[in-house]
Amino acid sequence: MSKLFDDQKNYKNLVNGQWTSSINHNYIQISSPVDGSFVGNVPSMSQSEVDEVIQFSKESFQSWSRVPIYEKAAILYKAAAILEVRANEIAEILVMEIAKDRKSAISEVKRTVDFLRYTADVGKNMEGVALNGENFPGGSKNKISYVKRVPLGTVLSISPFNYPINLSASKVAPALIGGNTVILKPPTQGAISALHLVEALQDAGLPKGVLQTVTGKGSEIGDYIVTHSGVDFINFTGSTEIGKHLSKLANMTPLLLELGGKDAAIILEDADLPFTASNIVDGAFSYSGQRCTAVKRILTTDEVAEKLIPLLKEKIEKLPVGDPRDEVIITPLIDQKAADLAKFLIDDAISKGAVAITGNRIEGTTVYPTLLDGVTEEMEIAWQEPFSPILPIIRVKDKDDAIRIANNSEYGLQSSVFTQDINKAFYIADRLEVGTVQINNKTERGPDHFPFMGVKSSGMGTQGVRYSIDSMTRPKAIVVNLRE
Ligand code: NAP
Ligand code: G3P
Repeated sequence: MSKLFDDQKNYKNLVNGQWTSSINHNYIQISSPVDGSFVGNVPSMSQSEVDEVIQFSKESFQSWSRVPIYEKAAILYKAAAILEVRANEIAEILVMEIAKDRKSAISEVKRTVDFLRYTADVGKNMEGVALNGENFPGGSKNKISYVKRVPLGTVLSISPFNYPINLSASKVAPALIGGNTVILKPPTQGAISALHLVEALQDAGLPKGVLQTVTGKGSEIGDYIVTHSGVDFINFTGSTEIGKHLSKLANMTPLLLELGGKDAAIILEDADLPFTASNIVDGAFSYSGQRCTAVKRILTTDEVAEKLIPLLKEKIEKLPVGDPRDEVIITPLIDQKAADLAKFLIDDAISKGAVAITGNRIEGTTVYPTLLDGVTEEMEIAWQEPFSPILPIIRVKDKDDAIRIANNSEYGLQSSVFTQDINKAFYIADRLEVGTVQINNKTERGPDHFPFMGVKSSGMGTQGVRYSIDSMTRPKAIVVNLRE
C-alpha cells in the first residue's frame, strides 16, 4: 500500500514531513475525464489545516535556507532519479487523471526529470559576486561589496491541470534550490499526479516542512491561502481570469503569473508551406489544444490561405482521435465545461459566416480538430482562448495588418512567424507585443531553460530555470569597509 493513500484511495497531503489524512474527512472525488472511472479522493483542506501547514513552513525555513546549495542540489538529483524510475507508472496516472495521451504524459514526466537536474546544475552556479568600491568615481579600494542571492521565505506554488507535474516542478524546484520553503496547491484535476511528484522530492530527503501540499478547490481554499500573511511569494500558472483575481488579492505579496494565451501564427507568402502546415498542426492540436502556447489563430493573406488550407485539412483529418491509452493526439477535454465552450465558439463563428473546413464535430467531451476559415474580428473565436482543438484562420491584407490583429489581442504570450526572409521575420517580431516570437516554429515553452513570459493578460514575470530562481530570491549585499 502506498503511503500516499489509504485502502479507499483517499489521498493524503504532505504536512511537516508526514503524509497526513484529512482531519475532517472532507474529500473531493477525482473521476477520470477519459471514462468517468474513479481515480481517487483528495482532501479538501480547511483553513485551520492551511494555517498549520504555513506554520510548519515558517518553522523549517531558517534551517533549510542554511543548507548548503550542493546539498539542496543533491536532493533534486535524487528526486530526478526516483521520478525517472517511476516515469511510466506516473504517466499512467496522468493519462487517466487529465486525459493526456500516453506519449505526451511520459514526455511530461521525463521533461520534469530533466528540469530537476538542470535546476540543481544552475543552483550550484549561484556563487555570488564581489564588487570593488574603487570602480566607481570617488569609490575606495577599502570598500568591497559581496552580493549573494537569498530566499524570500515561503513560496506558494499554484499549478494548472494541463501540466500538473511539470508546471508544479517548474515552481517547486527553483524555489527550493533558492532556499525557500514551498507549499504546493496543485490543480484539483491533476492533484493526484502532482502528489506523486511531491513524493519523489520528499523521498529524496527533503527535511520536514520544507515542501508541503494543500489540496482543495481553488474556488474554496484559494483566496484564503493566497491572502495568508505567512505567504512570501505566489508563483501561479493558470487562467487569466484567476491570475487577475489573485493579483488583486495579493496586496503586497510578490507574484509570478503565467496565464492564458492566444498565440498567432503569421504566415508570409514565401513560407515553406508543407513544413509550416506540419508545424502548425502539431502546435495547435497536441494535447487537444490544451496548452497555453498552442497555436490559436492563423493570420495570413488570401494567396497563402488558398494553398495552405488543403495542406492543413489533409494533416488535421489524419490526427487520431480517441482514448489517451491508445496512440492518439485528440483526447477528451478536461471537462464538459471545456467542451461546451468549444461548441459555443464554433457555433458563434459559423453563425457569423465562418466556414468549417474540417471538424465541427463533438461527441461528449471529445472535440474533433476543427479548422475554421473566414474568421473575422467580429467572431468570439478570433479573441477568446478556446483551450480545445479549434484553429481559426483570419485573412489579412499584409504583414502590417497581421501585426495589428495580433497585437489587438488582450493576450501576449507567444507568436510564430513563418517566412524565409529574415528581414521580414525581424520586422514582424520587433513589432509584436508578446513574450516570445518563434521564427519558423510553432509556439512553445520549451526548452525549459529559455525565458518564458507573457505580457498583457498573459502574465507577469519570467519562468525558465534561472529566471525562476531569480524571481524567488533577492540580492543581499554585505559591504566590507577596510581600514588602512
Ligand atoms: P485555472 O482554472 O486558472 O486553475 C489554475 C490553478 O489555480 C488551479 O490549481 C486552481 O485550483 C487554482 N485556483 C483556482 N481558483 C483559485 C483561487 N481563487 N485562488 C488560488 N488558486 C486558485 O486554470 P486551469 O484550468 O488549471 O489551466 C488552464 C488555464 O491555464 C488556461 O487559461 C491556460 O492558458 C493557462 N495556462 C497557462 C500556462 C502558462 O505557462 N502561461 C501554462 C498552463 C496553463 P483548482 O484546480 O482547484 O480550481
Ligand atoms: O500550457 C502549458 C505551457 O507551459 C505549454 O508548454 O512546452 O507545451 O509549450 P509547452
